[in-house]
Amino acid sequence: MTQSFARVKQTFEQRSMYDAVVEGNYMYHAELVATLATWAREQTQPLRIVDLGCGDSWLATHAFPYANVAEYHGVDVSEASVADAQKRIAIWPGRASVVAGNLAEFLHGLASDSATLILASYTIHHFLSDAKTALIADCFRVLVPGGTFIWIDAVRHEDESREGYLSRLTNEMDRDWTALTPDQRAVACTHVRESDFPETRSWMIQRVKEIGFSATSTILETDFFQGWAFTKP
Ligand SMILES: C[S@@+](CC[C@H](N)C(=O)[O-])C[C@H]1O[C@@H](n2cnc3c(N)ncnc32)[C@H](O)[C@@H]1O
Repeated sequence: MTQSFARVKQTFEQRSMYDAVVEGNYMYHAELVATLATWAREQTQPLRIVDLGCGDSWLATHAFPYANVAEYHGVDVSEASVADAQKRIAIWPGRASVVAGNLAEFLHGLASDSATLILASYTIHHFLSDAKTALIADCFRVLVPGGTFIWIDAVRHEDESREGYLSRLTNEMDRDWTALTPDQRAVACTHVRESDFPETRSWMIQRVKEIGFSATSTILETDFFQGWAFTKP
């Protein structure tokens, strides 16, 4: 199975499936909003946020509506999501933008030391291992010293193959994700099988540390999905 942005784009051009996932809280968006809002309250400097694979910017606009946001720049491959995001980011007039494109290219075009927060929520698992490593290195470059990289993603168990993870997750989706219509569940499961490349927690933490980040806090810890905040020293 190979990485295909065209397939990912096709899935997320139909917003309704992922809207139902968020609405059903199957990927713990309610918990993420609470944790990210608490994290933002602890920050003393204005936030200059880069949101990779931002979707419709639901997460950032729900987590940071009261934060001191100096800048917000989102990118997503789905044009339908970007159109919805552009409405949501109106809460930050004149300080926010969202563009359609490949997040790796977008990140590569950003100046070094230009962001205080890079948020990558449920998006890096669409890249293969080497591309993930290159992306994280570029996040390190773009962050200011003291900046934060928040990585939330699909995570396999330490002894679990990709196939094992995908069948465990799609079984649960088929059984429990009842806020989705049967057609939406079929689309979601096909997407996961074709385009998800989850890593283990130890692989993720080791790569991030090798690149130079230090671990700060846990953002999410569940059986399928986890997240951490890392600091650029
Ligand atoms: C599971 S959704 C996550 C959306 C949002 N970040 C959240 O946490 O709810 C994954 C998003 O990443 C986007 N995406 C996946 N690969 C991408 C890429 N290479 N470049 C830009 N966006 C990408 C998809 O279009 C989709 O909106």
